[in-house]
Amino acid sequence: MTVYLDNAATSHPKPASVYAAVAKALAEIGASPGRSAYRSAREASALVAEARSKVAGFFGIADPARVVFTKNATESLNVVLKGYLRPGDRVLISGMEHNAVVRPLHRLASCGVAAERIPCSPRGRLDCAALRAMLDPAPRLVVLNHASNVNGALQPAEEVAALCGRAGVPLLLDAAQTAGVQPISAKDWNLGMLACSGHKGLLGPPGLGILYIRDDLDVLPLMEGGTGNRSEEEEQPELCPERFESGTGNLPAVAGLSAGLDFITRTGLDAIRRHELDLAARLEKGLAKIPGLKLFRPEERGTGTVSFAVEGLNPADVGHLLDEAFDIAVRTGLHCAPLAHETLGTLPEGTVRASVGYATTPDEVEFLVESLRNLLLHRG
Ligand SMILES: Cc1ncc(COP(=O)(O)O)c(C=O)c1O
Repeated sequence: MTVYLDNAATSHPKPASVYAAVAKALAEIGASPGRSAYRSAREASALVAEARSKVAGFFGIADPARVVFTKNATESLNVVLKGYLRPGDRVLISGMEHNAVVRPLHRLASCGVAAERIPCSPRGRLDCAALRAMLDPAPRLVVLNHASNVNGALQPAEEVAALCGRAGVPLLLDAAQTAGVQPISAKDWNLGMLACSGHKGLLGPPGLGILYIRDDLDVLPLMEGGTGNRSEEEEQPELCPERFESGTGNLPAVAGLSAGLDFITRTGLDAIRRHELDLAARLEKGLAKIPGLKLFRPEERGTGTVSFAVEGLNPADVGHLLDEAFDIAVRTGLHCAPLAHETLGTLPEGTVRASVGYATTPDEVEFLVESLRNLLLHRG
């Protein structure tokens, strides 16, 4: 059986309850939520409302209506960047951002939005002193990747949020990697916006993302269309979440996410985090003993994502060999985050990335270490 170590891309396997919830929504409920009043449509609407409340509770969001379901974290980030920033605005981003932030901002540069990079250490930690200086004059927005999808580097989100709060600047937290692993509180941290995937640490199926927007922030939607309410008006409704949820939503994925959140609550966020961090520590310990293998360790680890490179071998070749010879699934290359690689000094080839999840076992981690050791031995 495949040893799946690509949980930073998407979590696999999902809990059995997630598969059951997806199948039930698709086969038994079937109807579109928020549109009609017959029984199964009401059931679909109730399911979505319940999931929204669970998401709100999970992230310390006072009003569930401020929780928007999107297609993925990329869409959530695009909504904010394109709907909040205006020509002439200045935005600060960390040196560890994903292309889901970098590419929209690259396009927005041609519309007069200027992005500036807050420096990070060579291991990926944001320089808070530099941020403090860059907050004067105040930019329109700060974007922070909570934990790196390249090496698991955790950022001091609470401190960054406090600095932004003092400067009156909203913080957009990209929690794609940390949602379901690290505690996050929109209320306690006074986050401006929060974007994450439903299909990674939250254990839902692909095709679902989450976006929270604080109620004092004016963000334009990316798309307009049918919302199931105020249909007589041509203008897109102002009210959240409908404002940002045009068209038929992904009911099976919402059902799966809801079951994923239940699983996390039952298991305990702390227990999941401890499990993943313990496995990452075990993996790093094993890999550190292999000659010719270089680890890219963060100052503070937030997730079970471990990056390394093998002397004299392209990361893509290492990944191919692990797949072919040992049936181990890892990701290789730039992981859609060339900016992070620039910071970590791993351009142009990138790294081999092994990312554990809630379902990963110590044996699987040992198997990766052993396989790499054998691989390098046979290379001579
Ligand atoms: C830090 C970060 N931001 C954004 C994304 C985009 O997430 P999604 O694939 O859900 O759009 C990812 C996905 O890997 C990520 O790691």
